[in-house]
Amino acid sequence: MRPGVDLVGGFASLRPAYVRNCGKDRSMQPSPKLPMGCRSSPKRGPAPSNFTDARLSSIIVNLGRRRTASGEGPSTLQAAARRRRVTSDQELFAKGLATYQKIVAGNFLAHEQAYQALHEVLVSEAKEDFVFVDLACGAAPYSAAALAGTGVVRYVGVDISRPALEIAREKLAPLACPIELRCKDFVEAIDAWEGWLDVVWIGLSLHHLRTSEKRAFMGKVERLIPRDGLFLIWEPTCLEGEDREGWVERFSTYLKGLPMSLDELAAMDSHQRASDYAETAATWKGMAREAGFEKADQLFTSPDRLTGMYLFRR
Ligand SMILES: C[S@@+](CC[C@H](N)C(=O)[O-])C[C@H]1O[C@@H](n2cnc3c(N)ncnc32)[C@H](O)[C@@H]1O
Repeated sequence: MRPGVDLVGGFASLRPAYVRNCGKDRSMQPSPKLPMGCRSSPKRGPAPSNFTDARLSSIIVNLGRRRTASGEGPSTLQAAARRRRVTSDQELFAKGLATYQKIVAGNFLAHEQAYQALHEVLVSEAKEDFVFVDLACGAAPYSAAALAGTGVVRYVGVDISRPALEIAREKLAPLACPIELRCKDFVEAIDAWEGWLDVVWIGLSLHHLRTSEKRAFMGKVERLIPRDGLFLIWEPTCLEGEDREGWVERFSTYLKGLPMSLDELAAMDSHQRASDYAETAATWKGMAREAGFEKADQLFTSPDRLTGMYLFRR
């Protein structure tokens, strides 16, 4: 990272960890901007280093055991229901973009800690030169920070919100690699993907799918990831023994304590009640294993215990 450059509000507090972990001095000059819709052709590289037990245990902080039932109907009905939900999610996110940016700026959902954990995994575990796919990237508030000093050679961001992608383009400008932004449903983007995906990251967005949809989606990602690839998710996580409704009520209580207007809090609460489907840590990991990933580890639990980050590998 260039000295003196703050990528996003609050990022300065992450700088010592990034500086400590950056093995390579990659200049963070503004990148050439590619038009939306350009396609990438990921490369394959050498096998990854092992994620040692010691390193893993230093960042694994919480494990759950419970599974939830899936209970969905036929796939065609699911697809139609999903399309309706995506449309309503898109409307909600377009309206809620400013509110979400306040949440990010205030670090109310632990973006700083989550993206620092992502950065550390990328530095220590990603292959030498990797393509990074940021699914449901939104405004990509911390992605440039997480990728600073890593071996990223291409960034592909996917989101259904065009206004969010416009902001993302500015936030990602410090990256030295080519940047490609696609305005697209992330499930459809994966369905249509051609070539390998070196590192796939999805932050606070996979939980909009129902359980069986999540599992199917993970299976599609697994088939696109090379043996040295990484699939990382940061998602709402139920406590052991807690169901989706329990998580929703816990999040609702947490929201009430945030320094935001009543209207903003009401909009957030209404969105999460309609669209958020948290899973336990055991379910997130179990779904990944059922999808074909051999290794599934939890790397991080947010201080509010509402979310967790997971690393899946073949
Ligand atoms: C809570 S924000 C997360 C943004 C970012 N990943 C982060 O870590 O802060 C959720 C994002 O998912 C996007 N989104 C929701 N459903 C989507 C879908 N089906 N396909 C693509 N993007 C979607 C929204 O537009 C929004 O930008």
